[in-house]
Amino acid sequence: MSNVTMSSSELEQKLLAVFEAGDDKELDAIVSRVSNEFIKETSFSTPNVSEVEIAQRFTQSAIREEPQDTMEYLNDLIKNVVEDGIHTSSPLLIGHMTSALPNYMKSLAKLVVSMNQNVVKTETAKTITFLEREAMAKLHRLIFNRDEEFYAKHIQDPAYMLGLFASGGTLANTSALWIARNSALKPSSDGSFKGVEREGVIRAMRYYGYSDIALIGSTLMHYSLDKAADLLGVGVHGLVKIPANANYQVDLAMMEAKIIELLAAKTLICAIVGICGTTETGAIDDLDGMARLASKYNIHFHCDAAWGGPCIFSKLHRSKAKGIELADSVTLDGHKQLWLPMGCGMVFLKSPTAVDAVSKTANYIIRKDSYDLGKFTIDGSRGAQAIYLHANLELLGLRGYEVLFDRTVRMARYMARCIMRSENFELLVKPMSNILLYRWIPATLRQKVWEGTLTDEDNEYIDECNRQLQNHQKNAGKTFVSRTTISCPKYNHKGIVGLRVVIGNPLTKEEDIDAVFWDQNAILMPLFSTKDVTSNPAAVILRDVPEIRVAEAAEGGNNNYFEALWASMSLQHRLVFNDDVDTFLDALITPDCSLHHDVKLRKSLPWLGGASPGAKCSSLSLRSLASTCSLKREGQSDSESSASSDERLLAAN
Ligand SMILES: Cc1ncc(COP(=O)(O)O)c(C=O)c1O
Repeated sequence: MSNVTMSSSELEQKLLAVFEAGDDKELDAIVSRVSNEFIKETSFSTPNVSEVEIAQRFTQSAIREEPQDTMEYLNDLIKNVVEDGIHTSSPLLIGHMTSALPNYMKSLAKLVVSMNQNVVKTETAKTITFLEREAMAKLHRLIFNRDEEFYAKHIQDPAYMLGLFASGGTLANTSALWIARNSALKPSSDGSFKGVEREGVIRAMRYYGYSDIALIGSTLMHYSLDKAADLLGVGVHGLVKIPANANYQVDLAMMEAKIIELLAAKTLICAIVGICGTTETGAIDDLDGMARLASKYNIHFHCDAAWGGPCIFSKLHRSKAKGIELADSVTLDGHKQLWLPMGCGMVFLKSPTAVDAVSKTANYIIRKDSYDLGKFTIDGSRGAQAIYLHANLELLGLRGYEVLFDRTVRMARYMARCIMRSENFELLVKPMSNILLYRWIPATLRQKVWEGTLTDEDNEYIDECNRQLQNHQKNAGKTFVSRTTISCPKYNHKGIVGLRVVIGNPLTKEEDIDAVFWDQNAILMPLFSTKDVTSNPAAVILRDVPEIRVAEAAEGGNNNYFEALWASMSLQHRLVFNDDVDTFLDALITPDCSLHHDVKLRKSLPWLGGASPGAKCSSLSLRSLASTCSLKREGQSDSESSASSDERLLAAN
């Protein structure tokens, strides 16, 4: 469209042409080239372009009078938006949950936009409605594992819903808790009370004789639960947050005590919320234990598996989510680890009639017996995102999802091992799946970390160093980790600033993780005074213990503490780790909770006990086992040397 002012009828004709079918080949070619270049770019963003600077590009509040030329608009868009966009597909962006997508998604997106179906009703989504129901049933089956007959009956019967699509995890969680609240405050059997859906929270509470209303979960719940609590009339203060244990899993004993207290005070607990993959630490709650609590006290059990849910695709990792199949509702976020484009949240419902608690109808659409999905979703009009889900389930399959998920966990474990063996970094949260937290330690304080003698002031200084490091790293634009402040059991539950690593991009490989360390090293060297950085050029400085160096040098061995520890272990002790140093090193980065790895060890060594899948194994047993292997210093007795290596190991953990 040209800038020259034209008559209204000319303009009308021009604009009608814009709506007609056909390709703008020039436009398509540019968009295709720019998209490919954007996806291929490996650095995470353009360096040193501040958010304030970008805000200055978008300050026009008046709509232009005349239509702009399309090419001119596209060029502006490329310059102002695309060029400085975040390359979410970069394997060097390991700090957030948004990842690269399978390359066929671009073509599917074109189809989705061309079809422009509106899934609120079949009259605008005659086929997608049923495709969506099928895709949802497949994931429902993966979670709840009901039999063939169950799915044959419910998959396409409009009276039942196996799950609801939503724009993201936030609305999926909200939908689940909406159903939970309405089910708890349902209409009376005699029809005198119409239920919270009709009467509202205040009248419903009065009718049922409750004095208060609550939701309960861990302190690590995602803030979307605050939004849900607010919207549902529970209030953010009504979202009761129970502290987590040393593995960042909610403390079940404290949770049960709180439930008893709330019930005694006539508080309605709408739902217990379990987390499968907390946003900050990746921890998975003891879902089985939570399901038992929910059943004991007859409370809805919701599982927020927005991030970690896809572990159920993995034979290696599914046992960590044991109990998810007992939940009444489960959130999954397709735009996280199902590798779908943005806008793919979902909630799955154990009972196919649970949605009755929230269903709405209208006279012109979403009539009572129709197939219209808009009867149940918070969203009204929405797009055909389900095509992406359906495609990935077909094009990746169970095995595809499994190998990709397993790979991301492997990469997180690789990174954790690098950190564990280093002296310049400290592992703050071990990866239960593919999220970990760590921090850089200035040279002057490394010995204290090793000895476990850091003071609060030391930690504050380290916090500040890591804040600066993360800011500089972000501004430099090459690699990215995010940052959080986490209550750290190792430091008396004080808030500690941690660098947060989320490995959700299947493209991230070991060299990318190495590149993140090198990038941080390059930033640190000029940033801090010489007392804090050493002359050692390595990005990850292997932990070096002088007395081991001396002893090992004589035998021509390495001088890394953990390898030296391994070298000093007897065959009997090594057999606990399948006589494999890698298994031993992995055990050091393993959190103290149910892990396939430990189960495997225990199976091969029944005398360790607890060989059943999903059995709990405390890594304390691994620690104390390692501690019995002596790293003797000259003149030191066996007992002295075990004690000191135990202390070090504990400090290191
Ligand atoms: C555990 C968890 N739940 C819910 C959400 C919210 O998801 P969304 O941003 O898609 O609304 C997130 C997002 O990071 C999450 O990590």
